[in-house]
Amino acid sequence: MKVILVNGSPHKNGCTYTALTEVATELQKNGIDTDIFQLGKDAIPGCGGCGVCFETHKCKVDDIVNEFAEIAKTADGFIFGSPVHFAAAGGKITSFMDRLFFFARGDLANKPAAAVVSCRRGGASAAFDQLNKYFTISNMPVVSSQYWNQVHGSNPEQVRKDLEGMQTMRRLGANMAWLLKCIESGKKAGVKIPEPEPWAQTDFIR
Ligand SMILES: Cc1cc2nc3c(=O)[nH]c(=O)nc-3n(C[C@H](O)[C@H](O)[C@H](O)COP(=O)(O)O)c2cc1C
Repeated sequence: MKVILVNGSPHKNGCTYTALTEVATELQKNGIDTDIFQLGKDAIPGCGGCGVCFETHKCKVDDIVNEFAEIAKTADGFIFGSPVHFAAAGGKITSFMDRLFFFARGDLANKPAAAVVSCRRGGASAAFDQLNKYFTISNMPVVSSQYWNQVHGSNPEQVRKDLEGMQTMRRLGANMAWLLKCIESGKKAGVKIPEPEPWAQTDFIR
């Protein structure tokens, strides 16, 4: 089983990465493979709302979003990490997730996910709530920890000194591993994923 951890920060080895690495190490200790997927420094355009992806099942802008959507098919669970920018998730990961979830939600459904946020001081829970909304509209089981999944610091050294934050990351990894094993056992025992009803789209227009 494999979990992909997305680093939504432009800093390859920064604070968000430090938190994700702690989760990844715990996952590995529990027998789960991990890959860190870096969004990097290049700009990621936001969703143009063109709707082409409904026909083609990929984004018209053929970039890292389409690349991830393919890779995601091979994963069993996801951690999406972001720095807090002005009490929200970073612009880069917001664009990435808007476009990814618009067409790939079906492929991600029923795979557990969690958000991790990294801030110097404030806005963590707002950013955390924002990221969790992608999962809860996509039939993805949300994995929790002993606290909201946040770390504090302006650099990796400070993040490592956030002992409670690091502990929260380890518990998140352990909980994700536990849930993945439960899902695997459930599959073997014949537990079926619920059949969706046809979508009753209701746009509040009378
Ligand atoms: C544009 C910008 C906005 C930021 N806004 C906040 C904020 O609202 N609250 C906060 O505590 N830290 C804020 N920070 C600091 C970062 O969230 C924090 O240093 C984070 O741990 C950096 O993670 P990274 O190294 O993975 O990029 C901001 C940083 C930047 C660059």
